Amino acid sequence: MNIQKNRYQLKGTKNLHRGDSDFWLYLIFVIAASTFCILLAQLSHGSRLRVWYYKLTHNEVIGKGMEHMDQAGRTAGPAGNLLTYYRFQEFGASNPEEVDVNAPMVALTFDDGPNPECTSRILKALSDNYSRATFFVVGTNAEKYPDMLKEVLGTGCELGNHTFNHKKLTELDDAEADEQIDKVDRAVEAATGESTTVIRPPYGAYDEDLLNRLEVPVVLWDLDTEDWDSRNAQAVVDNVLSKVKDGDIILMHDIYESTAEAVEILVPKLKEQGYMVVTVSEMARYKGKELENHKAYGKIGNTAQ
Ligand code: NI
Repeated sequence: MNIQKNRYQLKGTKNLHRGDSDFWLYLIFVIAASTFCILLAQLSHGSRLRVWYYKLTHNEVIGKGMEHMDQAGRTAGPAGNLLTYYRFQEFGASNPEEVDVNAPMVALTFDDGPNPECTSRILKALSDNYSRATFFVVGTNAEKYPDMLKEVLGTGCELGNHTFNHKKLTELDDAEADEQIDKVDRAVEAATGESTTVIRPPYGAYDEDLLNRLEVPVVLWDLDTEDWDSRNAQAVVDNVLSKVKDGDIILMHDIYESTAEAVEILVPKLKEQGYMVVTVSEMARYKGKELENHKAYGKIGNTAQ
């Protein structure tokens, strides 16, 4: 009898244990499923998870690449970076209030505008991608399109001076050169109440004397897209993507449709690669190298010439 009883108890104990572990498995499953659902819900706009992800530093999200397949299932090469894509595209991580100063960045710059069609298209492509740029306007266009100047500043972009008549300043006497510059500022101030913060002399032509007279920093460039020459969007995109590096000041012109089209393709691609697309002054500030008067900058970090 004793043996029988023990066997019964043993069997009972075993059953009890199995029921116990099933229960725990079930509980773990329920907890995991709920956590998953909560995390999924958290991804919505303004959630805490979103804020946590938004605050990750660049190095924590960059380099976790993905490859994308073509329709036949073949690997079609790297398609940017999934996490970076979400960080920049979906979460707007280059919001100026919460900028990651360690991210690589570039400054797109546009000369010779504003132009109602092209500048508008470029501004839209920039704001759609949480990006900004610097526009070096010529006075004749600034006077003609004051609303465009307001739109440039309204989207967080920067206005620079490119002289009133696109003159080579080194060929003018001091008074003429100063008037070419001041007249742009008067037009910009009349339209926006603000003054230009940087200057790009046409053809990049300046001398020591001019540099010393100017009351804003001179901004040149180190990556020339040659958009005025090719007038071809894909050529401009390829040109930039094959050369771009951290700190570049990229030269373009917002008076060509091909350039507007190039910007629409280029900005999302730069963001996919982890670049922040910012104004020249922002780039300098984020890199701890605030632009100084009486200096010329060809790229941020180095003084030109
Ligand atoms: Ni120009």
